[in-house]
Amino acid sequence: MSSKLNFYIKKIEEISSDDNNLSKELIFYLKEKLGLSDISIFIEDYKLSKEEKNSINYFIEQKKNGVPLDYILQNSSFYNNDFFVDERVLIPRPETEILVDYINNLNLSPGIKILDAGVGSGCIGASLAKANPKTIVYGLDYSFDALKVANINKKKLELDNFYLINSKWLNSLKENTFNIVVSNPPYIAPFDSHLDKLKHEPISALVANKNGLEDFDIISFQAMKVIKDDGLLAFEHGNNQSNEVKKIMTRYGFKDINLINDYQSQPRITIGRK
Ligand SMILES: C[S@@+](CC[C@H](N)C(=O)[O-])C[C@H]1O[C@@H](n2cnc3c(N)ncnc32)[C@H](O)[C@@H]1O
Repeated sequence: MSSKLNFYIKKIEEISSDDNNLSKELIFYLKEKLGLSDISIFIEDYKLSKEEKNSINYFIEQKKNGVPLDYILQNSSFYNNDFFVDERVLIPRPETEILVDYINNLNLSPGIKILDAGVGSGCIGASLAKANPKTIVYGLDYSFDALKVANINKKKLELDNFYLINSKWLNSLKENTFNIVVSNPPYIAPFDSHLDKLKHEPISALVANKNGLEDFDIISFQAMKVIKDDGLLAFEHGNNQSNEVKKIMTRYGFKDINLINDYQSQPRITIGRK
């Protein structure tokens, strides 16, 4: 990059040795946030306005504090939609699109009821509601903060088939109600070293007791009651948890258990039938 922006790239290099990635993030930020074109970014004599300089300095400050780009932009692209995100919710992960895609490809009949347990930003539930306007999708979370963000995204995507519920897992739900329950629950063990890199994301969205497995147990037990006969339970989980998750689901009576791998060929999604 040879332009006035070099000055800022130097600053970026001071933050981290991984300057290539940060430089790429800065370029993305300049385009997304400031609407700068490739030409403006790369020409020598492009003159940055005061607002643009302030905005770049803001980006650099956030990066010094390790804030992920999606939080800085307050936007995350997921399943071809833009989701509002901030530190009240987990940033949607690319692997989660595999779960959405699997459900989407099931030929969902009009009127069926889907529950996204632990809705967070709404990325799973809202994506399913958007792609299947004749289904009825519910998103639940115990965090009011998360529900506020999910509601922003419900409005942003103009969804009138997506309903938000405040509940501690499936406690408050009626038996034999849903055709499909999907969940990406917290699944990181309390002292897992990965947590050091996730300090800006809500801990309540990440960590679960019993070595990260407690919520699979609670949800499977409760889902067996709220899912209709022949309905599905689909979980995203950690790449080393598939055996345990399968055992838990089997213990509560789920059958025809299926595993799906992520982009690194690791088992990340487990689906069972009631
Ligand atoms: C890993 S995040 C998933 C968010 C979103 N579905 C996604 O895939 O990005 C888990 C979510 O479960 C919620 N959660 C954690 N414990 C819960 C509980 N006991 N009852 C309801 N929701 C809970 C958290 O607030 C968080 O939004």
